[in-house]
Amino acid sequence: MGNVYVFDHPLIQHKTAMLRMAETSVKDFRELVKEIAMLMGYEATRKLPLEEVKITTPICDTSVNMLKGEDIAIVPILRAGLGMVDGMLALVPNAKVGHVGLYRDPDTHEPVEYYCKLPNDIEKREIFVVDPMLATGGSASAAIDFIKARGGKRIIFMCLIAAPEGIEVLQKDHPDVDIFIAAKDEKLNENAYIVPGLGDAGDRLYGTK
Ligand code: URA
Repeated sequence: MGNVYVFDHPLIQHKTAMLRMAETSVKDFRELVKEIAMLMGYEATRKLPLEEVKITTPICDTSVNMLKGEDIAIVPILRAGLGMVDGMLALVPNAKVGHVGLYRDPDTHEPVEYYCKLPNDIEKREIFVVDPMLATGGSASAAIDFIKARGGKRIIFMCLIAAPEGIEVLQKDHPDVDIFIAAKDEKLNENAYIVPGLGDAGDRLYGTK
């Protein structure tokens, strides 16, 4: 079973509280999503592989550990996941960015892929799938299915707010995937919104309604 990490860091709790407030502006919401993704990313990248590199300091030659920067992919689930990309790229600027877009079929309620573009060497990469809200878990699970079908192997899922229902689905469907969450909420309501949540993350990021 994958590990579930819920952050207790005061900065993450404070910024997530601001994100929830109905009066937070689009500009502030966008900045907060980026900042929280960056703070979470610091911990979520803890197990990234390093490689030994020979360098020369002003004093002598030496060997140091450096990130294998070219071995990382960030994959936002469209469209709200886009808000978390810049925060992650601030930490790992050499990462490649893939995109997965899904919609829910109105008849079957199954997630259908409408867009998927990943780095062509995705099978070699540590993959960070990002989406601010883990609600039913349907989209996250389907997105990870699509990434695995294209060869993705080492996958971490990062979200800002998760419902217990979504965590359960993701853990059941993808027991190999670790999940990083800024805040775990109470439940889903009858419209599959997270309670207390923050509303529709995509609308709040882009000022749509
Ligand atoms: N997606 C959102 O943007 N918000 C929710 O509460 C649930 C899914």
